Amino acid sequence: MGICYLQSLKMLQNKRFLITGVSDEKSLALVTAKEILEQGGQVVCAGLGITRHHENLSSRAKAYLESNETTFRETVKTQLGEDIPVFLLDATLENSIEDLVSELKKKQLEVDGFLHAIAMDRTIRNKIVKPLLDVSLEEFNDTVGVSAFSLVRIVKHLMNYELLNYGSSICSLSYIAAEKVTFHPYRNMSVAKAALERITIELADELGRTHGIRVNAVRFSPYLGSKAGSATLDVIDVERADKSSPLGNATPKDLAKEVVHLLQPKLRVTGEIRHVDGGYHIIG
Ligand SMILES: NC(=O)c1ccc[n+]([C@@H]2O[C@H](COP(=O)([O-])OP(=O)(O)OC[C@H]3O[C@@H](n4cnc5c(N)ncnc54)[C@H](O)[C@@H]3O)[C@@H](O)[C@H]2O)c1
Repeated sequence: MGICYLQSLKMLQNKRFLITGVSDEKSLALVTAKEILEQGGQVVCAGLGITRHHENLSSRAKAYLESNETTFRETVKTQLGEDIPVFLLDATLENSIEDLVSELKKKQLEVDGFLHAIAMDRTIRNKIVKPLLDVSLEEFNDTVGVSAFSLVRIVKHLMNYELLNYGSSICSLSYIAAEKVTFHPYRNMSVAKAALERITIELADELGRTHGIRVNAVRFSPYLGSKAGSATLDVIDVERADKSSPLGNATPKDLAKEVVHLLQPKLRVTGEIRHVDGGYHIIG
C-alpha cells in the first residue's frame, strides 16, 4: 500500500527526456537529470565533445573538447548510471545535431521532451565581459547561435525524425539578464538569453497548436558552481544576489524541481518564463 502510494507520486513515470549541457557533476543539467530519474523518468544525455564533423581544430579547441567529453562521459556514468545512453553533440554544427537524432532513431529512443542547458559566449574571458560596442558580428552570431537558436535546430531535427512525442515538454535555462541590466551585465550573452526566451514563446505557439508540445524557460539565480558560472561570475556577484533576494539564491535542486514540474505530462502550461531565483527578480 505504502509503495503503491509512493509510486503514484512519481511525476515522470514512463517518460524519457533528452538532456543537453552536462559537463560535470556541478552542471545544472546533471542536477536536473538526477531529479528526473528520482521522479521515475528516464534520460538520454548529449554532451559536447569531438564529433566526426569537427575540422581544423586548434590544439586549444581540441583539448577543450576532449576534456569536456571525458568529464561528460564520466559524470553520466558515475552520477546517473552506467546504462544511461550518451551521445555527442556540438550544437553549433548542423550535422552533429543530425547525427545525434539519427542515433536516437536507430536506438528507437523517442523522447517526451528535452532540457536545453547550452550556453557559450567567447566575449567573456577571465570574467571580463566585452562591451557590446566591441562585439563583432561573428561573435554575436556565434553566441546567439549556440545559446539560443540551437533550441530551434534541435527541435527541428527531432521532429524530422519523429522523435518528439505528441504532448512533449521542452525546457531551457535562462537568466534575469535577458530582461534587465544586472550588477553583472552580460551584454552579448544577455541578448542571446533574450533571444532564447523569445524563441521559447514563439515555439510554444507553433508547437502547441500543431503537436501539443509545451515550451518553457526558467531563469535561475547566479550560480558559481558550474563551469559556465565560474567562468563568468565573481563570488561578490553571487553574494550580492543572495543578499538582495527575499529568500536568498535558489539552489540547483530548486531549479531541478521546477524543471521536472514543467516536464510532467499533461500540464497545460506553455510559453512561460519562470523564475527560480529566491525572488531576486522582484527587487528594483
Ligand atoms: N551558472 C549560472 O549562474 C546560470 C544561471 C542561470 C542560467 N544558467 C544557464 O544554465 C545553463 C547551464 O549552465 P551551467 O551553469 O550548468 O554550466 P555548465 O558549464 O555546466 O553548462 C553549460 C553547457 O553548455 C555546453 N555547451 C557549450 N557549447 C556547446 C555546444 N556547442 N554544443 C553543445 N553543448 C555546448 C557545455 O558543454 C556545458 O555542458 C546555461 O544555459 C546557462 O546559461 C546558468
